[in-house]
Amino acid sequence: MAAGVDEQPSQEVRADGKHEERDDAPAASGPAPAVMPTTTLEADDEGDTFEDDDSALGTLRGSSDSGSLTESVTDYRFEHGRRYHSPRAGDYHLPNDETEQDRLDFQHHIFRIALDGRAFFSPMPTEKIRNVLDIGCGTGVWCMEVASQLPDAKVEGIDISPIQPAMVPPNCYFYVDDCNADWVSEQRYDLIHTAALTLAVTDWAKLIERVYEALRPGGYIELHEYHGLVVCRNKPDPPEPYLVQLSKYISEAMHKMGRDFNAPPMLGDMLRAAGFVDVEVATQEWPVGTWPKGRKNKTIGAAQTKNMKEAARNSVGIFTRVLGWQLEEFQVFSARVAQEVDSGEMQAQTTVYFIHARKPEEGEAH
Ligand SMILES: C[S@@+](CC[C@H](N)C(=O)[O-])C[C@H]1O[C@@H](n2cnc3c(N)ncnc32)[C@H](O)[C@@H]1O
Repeated sequence: MAAGVDEQPSQEVRADGKHEERDDAPAASGPAPAVMPTTTLEADDEGDTFEDDDSALGTLRGSSDSGSLTESVTDYRFEHGRRYHSPRAGDYHLPNDETEQDRLDFQHHIFRIALDGRAFFSPMPTEKIRNVLDIGCGTGVWCMEVASQLPDAKVEGIDISPIQPAMVPPNCYFYVDDCNADWVSEQRYDLIHTAALTLAVTDWAKLIERVYEALRPGGYIELHEYHGLVVCRNKPDPPEPYLVQLSKYISEAMHKMGRDFNAPPMLGDMLRAAGFVDVEVATQEWPVGTWPKGRKNKTIGAAQTKNMKEAARNSVGIFTRVLGWQLEEFQVFSARVAQEVDSGEMQAQTTVYFIHARKPEEGEAH
């Protein structure tokens, strides 16, 4: 079993969706409970139908303006009809164009559904949260949500792409910054968050060290991270499903770039090694497709079907630049992934890690 998983909170959310009936579900703001919802999946052998018309899911939507930033960071690179961040800003191979921004916003919705509307679980009184940082904030949607929930806090987001909107809550700020480089900011934070950052981070241990430095004593780090590898439960024998192959190719590309696409199971131990205490690790199994029991699982699975197809298409730079594939070769492969995912024949899933940990108070043993 992966390191840290044994620390999952004992309260399990059942895969049959029973937790959805709870009327004591936590609200989006207010004091955070210590327990993060965990899930495991059970196949729906009765084949309950699921209509993909849940309003909570929303649809892919148009993205907004970028903020005012210096020219060098908007000196975008264009390739194969896609737009990428300025090569000067860092080393990342997913596009930053509207298609990818829409996918990020859609993926953010999936996180919200999975976490019953909550943005974070770090158990600190909200009135004590004065400074918040989101690393690799993408379109800035998490920052804007938290800034609205905590109007007295200053919420900052950093990203190598200036793709955040100009119209934001007055306590919300965005900066272009490379999380893999040394941080120059003197600011100290009460809460530092990441989500879906495994393709971006070159050295998690180093990033965690920097976060530790940047937190005030008693502050929290909170990581919401995908384990990159897709598992297909009902197709264990060759030929390997295209979706599983896709995840392995991306993992291989990341390895070539010195990154670990499958780092999340190790993050709990890394946090402890860096000096963090009260390390809590919860996992959720997210289906691809509507094959498991439970309405919430089916909602996530339907959304993940769209997200995975889009993520596959948006990985063109990873395949052509890092793995050296021809464009046409990649296009055929990503069409196969889409076709396979749409067939609904696979019981595929990914695991998402939800981790939070506290920097000890001064003088506190750790
Ligand atoms: C998969 S997206 C996740 C975005 C956001 N956290 C979310 O959940 O929607 C990864 C983000 O990391 C950003 N990124 C990549 N490399 C980075 C780096 N070295 N420093 C800061 N941000 C980076 C990308 O521009 C992208 O917006």
